[in-house]
Amino acid sequence: MIPLSVPNLTGNEKKYLIDCIDSTFVSSVGEYVNRFEELVAKATGSSSAVATSSGTTGLHAALTAAGVGRDDLVIIPAFTFIATANSVRHCGADPWLFDIRHNDWCLDPDAVKHGIESECELSGDGLIHKKTGRRVSAIMPVHTLGNMPDMDKFNAIAKEYSLVLIADAACSIGAAYHGKPFGELADLSVLSFNGNKTVTCGGGGAVVGRNRELLDHVRHLTTTARVWPDYDFDEAGFNYRMTNIQAAVGCAQMERAMTFVETKRRIRRFYEKELSGLKNSGISFFPETEGSSCWFSGIVLPEGKTLDDSKKVCSALKERDIEARTFWKPVHLQLPYEDSPHEDLVIAESLWQRIIALPCSSGISEEELETVARAINEILG
Ligand SMILES: Cc1ncc(COP(=O)(O)O)c(C=O)c1O
Repeated sequence: MIPLSVPNLTGNEKKYLIDCIDSTFVSSVGEYVNRFEELVAKATGSSSAVATSSGTTGLHAALTAAGVGRDDLVIIPAFTFIATANSVRHCGADPWLFDIRHNDWCLDPDAVKHGIESECELSGDGLIHKKTGRRVSAIMPVHTLGNMPDMDKFNAIAKEYSLVLIADAACSIGAAYHGKPFGELADLSVLSFNGNKTVTCGGGGAVVGRNRELLDHVRHLTTTARVWPDYDFDEAGFNYRMTNIQAAVGCAQMERAMTFVETKRRIRRFYEKELSGLKNSGISFFPETEGSSCWFSGIVLPEGKTLDDSKKVCSALKERDIEARTFWKPVHLQLPYEDSPHEDLVIAESLWQRIIALPCSSGISEEELETVARAINEILG
């Protein structure tokens, strides 16, 4: 089977893991955690980074540090992985769901501005959603596939309405915006190092950002809000810190991060070239912003096609020992978020059903890529 996306663990991962176990520092204190934080801070252009047990816990800690609380609304795209919405709900808040743009599959800043202007008012308590009386406390665009949302516009909106700007940057290690790493583009940005990400720790996350005060608060919250040296705690904190074992794998991965990202970009180019004949039948490719980390690659069936059509293509590929998958089902179609407020979601609703993610591991061989391209051309050509 040619897998969809598996980790590439052929560097120093095993060596650092053995070293970690020999040292007995296997928990949340250790040299590898500190080193991993330095490597992530440097790679993202942030003054520092806080390593977390997962991307989801990083998002939850970031939102909590930013003051998102019970009954608040947080603006997010409907088209995202469920963890974006879950992290909002874990704060006792609800997502306010907006559509994405065709050109980057990221949150649409113009729709957000329009929604705020037409449905909210600024008061002494902040930005209030008039219909529900709830406070809107943050905007959280998602770096879909490692693409950069229009951060200039989001920063302007956040400033105008005094909203905290947090980016779900789960998929974007190695990505850049206007030629620069994204680490200080938002108050906080949160990465994931889950097993299917370009760089993995097995599981893990990191919070970076331009707001030092918020970053320090995230660090405090993720380490149980303990006030050393005694057993004093000044907040209800979390046990969300990354372990030294996770970080040992992560440090070895970070040594090759940009090689992995370059391979991911090369895989995109390969599919675009080898499958270019399918464009005549309305098939398109995943969008890519300049500097995208190109986390995943794949194709999009023409307008009018349905989830069933996409699933049929996946099954036909499976018969040829190739793993392919449909992609994120939007948040408002998921049971826990059926009642969350949302705007028009025309693009998200049509798009998600037609996406087919193709094998794109950073260790995939040329031969495997050729096998996938040949199979797709046979099935859809
Ligand atoms: C967009 C997005 N947000 C959040 C997450 C959550 O990260 P994790 O799985 O590390 O908790 C993921 C990935 O899994 C993701 O793709």
